[in-house]
Amino acid sequence: MNGEELNSHDWQEALQLSKPDRVAWIHEKCLDQELLGHYRTKLLTSCTDLCGELGLEGGEPIKTWLQVENLLQIFKDWGLTRSSVVVTTGGGALSDAVGFAASIWKRGVRLIHIPTTPLSAVDAAWGGKTGINWGGAKNQLGTFAEPLAVHIDAQWMRTLSPRHFRAGLAEVAKHAFLNLEAFDDLCAHTLSWPPQNKEEFDLWSTLFVKSSNVKRQIVADDPEERGVRCILNLGHTLGHAVEAYTSGTSEPWLHGEAVALGLHFTLFEISHGVWTMGNCQELSHEQAKKLSAILHTQVPLPQNWSFTAEELWNYMAHDKKNVGNEIRDVAWRGVGHILWPVHWKKKSFEATWSAFVRSWEKFSQRATSP
Ligand SMILES: NC(=O)c1ccc[n+]([C@@H]2O[C@H](COP(=O)([O-])OP(=O)(O)OC[C@H]3O[C@@H](n4cnc5c(N)ncnc54)[C@H](O)[C@@H]3O)[C@@H](O)[C@H]2O)c1
Ligand SMILES: [Zn+2]
Repeated sequence: MNGEELNSHDWQEALQLSKPDRVAWIHEKCLDQELLGHYRTKLLTSCTDLCGELGLEGGEPIKTWLQVENLLQIFKDWGLTRSSVVVTTGGGALSDAVGFAASIWKRGVRLIHIPTTPLSAVDAAWGGKTGINWGGAKNQLGTFAEPLAVHIDAQWMRTLSPRHFRAGLAEVAKHAFLNLEAFDDLCAHTLSWPPQNKEEFDLWSTLFVKSSNVKRQIVADDPEERGVRCILNLGHTLGHAVEAYTSGTSEPWLHGEAVALGLHFTLFEISHGVWTMGNCQELSHEQAKKLSAILHTQVPLPQNWSFTAEELWNYMAHDKKNVGNEIRDVAWRGVGHILWPVHWKKKSFEATWSAFVRSWEKFSQRATSP
């Protein structure tokens, strides 16, 4: 079954079944014009009329209170009610901000998301979290607003920068750390980007749909993140620290790149015997090798980084979920075998980070030597 068959009519059907009084469409400005036209037609066949269409500049700057106020004014002008539906087409920042505005307008206008980046396709569009940045910190204001449907079509991604595309694949890799089926899918996946034809785009769409199922299953068990949903943070404790560390520099890392480094670190932890409850099986080491190779080829990282353990620790220590002087994390013991919560002590983190950096440098020298 290809990606199209897996999810093509669901969103149009969901739109029709929701019997909206009005449908509005908010999408990224920069998307492919032909595809926008194609989807406009699909929308019009599902709902006869659009009360409004708006092309916006996406990315992180959209996640502000000011932008939300603008959106609320537009919702008012369009006459949106609680019986309306807002369709978003864009990256995670756009679906987060528009989703947030829609969820507070009249106590909740329903949503359909059409993600246009790998990260939003497998992660941000799912699970119902919306949010904007506030008071200098990320995602401080937000709601839970589960969309009626999410539709994944990799064709949108042909206009995305290769760097953003690759970075988003870190979340696809993360799902392969968490789930055996997703791991097998990713190991079997040999496609290159950009695809050469419609069939190859469909294969990418299928990979994203299947990968997104990992998040959907986990969220279904814990929609409000009170327990097991935290395993989706694998690679993120260190990843968020790297993201924050580099954000004020001339070369900020993308979220996915930082998460990819965090995932490399979780793989290193088992080879280094950090979380030693029960020895790791041979199988886990083989899986770790495969995942490391996939990460290296699929998600290239910025070169020449040097983060000190001390500074990373300080960034990680900011997280409110930490207890005392220890840092809460999620550890990997093999595909689908996750330990949580685990707690880092400063000394053991520093020793592990130093050993990781040494092994990374050795690996990089081997990779670049003729
Ligand atoms: N709600 C959640 O559960 C959740 C989960 C993970 C991440 N997020 C959020 O998602 C955001 C990151 O999402 P992202 O990685 O999709 O990045 P993004 O939304 O910031 O998009 C990256 C850049 O690509 C542009 N863009 C998007 N799609 C494009 C396309 N098809 N062609 C050309 N340009 C395109 C955007 O305008 C932006 O400049 C963050 O704000 C993060 O907090 C939310
Ligand atoms: Zn992430």
